[in-house]
Amino acid sequence: MNVVPAFPAEIEVNGARLGVRAPPVARLSSVLRDELGLLGTKVGCDAGDCGSCTVLLDGEPVCACLVPLAQATGRKVETVEGLAQVRLSALQASFHHHGAAQCGICTPGFLMAASALLAKNPRPSETQAREALAGVLCRCTGYRKILRAVTEAWRLDGLAAGSAAQDFALLAHPSPIGLFLPRLDGVAKVTGTEKFGADVLMPGALFVRAIRSPHHHARFRFGDLDAFGRAHPGLERVFTARDIPGENRFGVIPAFADQPALAESVARFRGEAVALVAGERRAVEALDLETFPVTWEKLPALLDTDEAEAAPALHAERPGNLLVRGLVARGAPGTALAEAAFTVEGALETSFVEHAYIEPEAGCAWMEGDTLAIAACTQAPFMDRDETAKVLGLSPERVRIIPTATGGGFGSKLDLSVQPLIGLVALLTGRPAALAFSRAESMMATTKRHPARLRARIGADADGRLVGMAFEGKFDTGAYASWGPTVANRVPVHASGPYRTPHYRAEAAAIHTHGPVAGAFRGFGVPQAAALGETLMDRLADACGMDALEFRLLNALRDGDQTVTGQTLSVGVGVRACLDALRPHWTRARAGAEAFNQTAGVVRRGAGLAVGWYGCGNTSLPNPSTIKIGLTAEGRVVLHQGAVDIGQGSNTAIAQIASEALGLPLDRFGLVGADTALTPDAGKTSASRQTFVSGRAAEAATKKLREKILRWANVGQNAELALDGACLELREGDAFRRLDLAGMARDAEGYVFAAQATFDPPTSPLDENGQGVPYAMYGFGAQLVELEVDTALGTVNLLKVTAAHDVGRAVNPLLAEGQVEGGIAQGIGMALMEEYVPGRTENLHDYLIPTIGDVPEIETILVEVPDPIGPFGAKGLGEHTLIPTAPAILNAIRRATGAVLTRLPATPDRVLAALPTARA
Ligand code: FES
Repeated sequence: MNVVPAFPAEIEVNGARLGVRAPPVARLSSVLRDELGLLGTKVGCDAGDCGSCTVLLDGEPVCACLVPLAQATGRKVETVEGLAQVRLSALQASFHHHGAAQCGICTPGFLMAASALLAKNPRPSETQAREALAGVLCRCTGYRKILRAVTEAWRLDGLAAGSAAQDFALLAHPSPIGLFLPRLDGVAKVTGTEKFGADVLMPGALFVRAIRSPHHHARFRFGDLDAFGRAHPGLERVFTARDIPGENRFGVIPAFADQPALAESVARFRGEAVALVAGERRAVEALDLETFPVTWEKLPALLDTDEAEAAPALHAERPGNLLVRGLVARGAPGTALAEAAFTVEGALETSFVEHAYIEPEAGCAWMEGDTLAIAACTQAPFMDRDETAKVLGLSPERVRIIPTATGGGFGSKLDLSVQPLIGLVALLTGRPAALAFSRAESMMATTKRHPARLRARIGADADGRLVGMAFEGKFDTGAYASWGPTVANRVPVHASGPYRTPHYRAEAAAIHTHGPVAGAFRGFGVPQAAALGETLMDRLADACGMDALEFRLLNALRDGDQTVTGQTLSVGVGVRACLDALRPHWTRARAGAEAFNQTAGVVRRGAGLAVGWYGCGNTSLPNPSTIKIGLTAEGRVVLHQGAVDIGQGSNTAIAQIASEALGLPLDRFGLVGADTALTPDAGKTSASRQTFVSGRAAEAATKKLREKILRWANVGQNAELALDGACLELREGDAFRRLDLAGMARDAEGYVFAAQATFDPPTSPLDENGQGVPYAMYGFGAQLVELEVDTALGTVNLLKVTAAHDVGRAVNPLLAEGQVEGGIAQGIGMALMEEYVPGRTENLHDYLIPTIGDVPEIETILVEVPDPIGPFGAKGLGEHTLIPTAPAILNAIRRATGAVLTRLPATPDRVLAALPTARA
């Protein structure tokens, strides 16, 4: 062990001179966080790639993870904690006001980079802001609102309090649905006080690191673990699978639970954890894990789905490597396609896509008496509780999950990561235990978007009406099941797109390999399927001699139509309204591209369209949410809102729904956030379900509460409510009643009135042909991409995205726009640059995600075609926003150059190879 000795040093941070004891080579980010408790500086990669640890050193932005303490001594360090003096700075107020922080993990880094810019240039242009912020990554927002917040911060200079007052006035609005309301939890994000997984520090905590397989497939044997412990002072204990007291198998779908928390004798993917070390922080951090006593016997690895399909089973309990096959079949597609006037067919291969949220997985566990408490970033607290309890041999009641703020979660934080590992250490030692994945560890060990091999054929009659579609897809689900069954079932339902398709057959297979575990990622396989389906639709429009938008309009689902599963969508089908909204933009964009291409040389311009649809919630399975609400004797409405807010805004949107349903403004509300001990189960934050399902539960609970109050006060349904301190006033026409809440009986939680309700969206099982009602509600969207392709270099330059999304009812347009912009940014990444290569990709400098320079202007059009059962008509939105982006880009590339891409991402080499000249 080689620990550099600590030395006393003094650094100036935010104007104060502070003493620290740390090695001169210690990263400034660690010194700020671990020595000084300034947790606003976030650590996303420790390699200078993500910029989330950006601070100012003598006024210049630097990545604190790359600055040794010795270099910072004698210089001025400024962190996010120094920005707000009594009230938010103008820049912070602007971020809050414009919705520039979603999850908020990147926000301190952006604020610091932007504050350096504004100090020199108070009114920067968008280009200047882009340049200044280029070193900071965001995975949630799509950057557009960040740019707006920075370029318009000058408007708030000196008026930050005024802006806050304006936002506070919205909180007093009696009817908050539809307001551009800044997030209720936004101030903590712009001040850096939000607590993420790595920010929960318990005194005396043991620090934990995992030993992981360096091979895709290997048998392993441990050496003398006791001797290793003795040789490393400060190391408390080593843990292996033999220490796990419960069932060493977890899974997000109980019937497919197959993943061990610690592998037992064989590692099935590179990065699988096989052992843990726990001890004092410095000792554990200094360990060279290469010296851990484990011997690996490398075994043959299957990394290709075609090979894996034919090979013996990876899992002894399964007959082969086919995990699940999903099917939707209707009519006679073979005959329909054979008789079609026009047909097109094609294939597409997609890659593993890394979540690359800016917060690597992290958490802390401790014992509360007999109960194991775990605070960690997550999207699914109750599922975490049940699966962790199973692994640790505890009853679910003995595990409490307290979600921290989640620094980005697009599906992977639905799976267990740190929870059973730190839970094991805390349970067996009785001491708190903390673990934060490194970026490399997060990339190796956590789930990815399924790579897919897809083929499809679509046909239309002489009038351009779709007659049939045949689709098949193979999805690499990696070493363990995770959400593979969900992807295999969801894809065939959605592969048709939102079109009238009388004859249809779609199959999707999830196949095990020794690749990384593929799981949920914004869309559960639908984005891959749409990337093929929507490019074929574009080519079929051409084959029919029709305009691409009019062709889609002709074939799009209407109210009263049946989907490919035989589900009748009686009302609320908004896809045509989205296409109508794009029509003038499409006309302008096509004309602009044609005019440009008359004179241009190697650079060609194109415009491309695509649509998408997405069923919210679980596929044909129960998917309930429960919400509780109460009115205290002090005159406060308390919403027990267990729908985890991972940045998408459920804390705000669900409170808006409750406020509207109750008839009392948001400034009388308090929020009890997700905690399995305090909030009822609001299900997982996945599949775009929270606004729809938990929002509907909140609406129902609140209506129940209102009913109770009205009945007690003996007033009619239309009575208006108001709170005056601890008095509730009810007014109906001339009638007026005033209830002194303080004098009324209250329950154990202090509520004078309380109610709880559950909503479970109505679905029905799918039969053997996939016929039935898989989802209670679908959302729709259409996007138009304008771009340029350099036909000499193969590079793609995006000019503009126009996105029309049917949200049913825009509960909060500010948050809805943020979802659209963020989803488009991820779609851009999937289309043009993101490719995780197992064994090769290690961090954010060899895995590229869109930067602030890669996301063009985005014009969002929120279409409102109300859903009959959504709360106030609202539909889900999160996944929908990504689905059309990649195919719209591919269609624009084809219209610009004739290139038909068959592999994603469309990197310059692939674009060049696909150009008609190259093919010729
Ligand atoms: Fe930027 Fe989440 S808001 S990473």
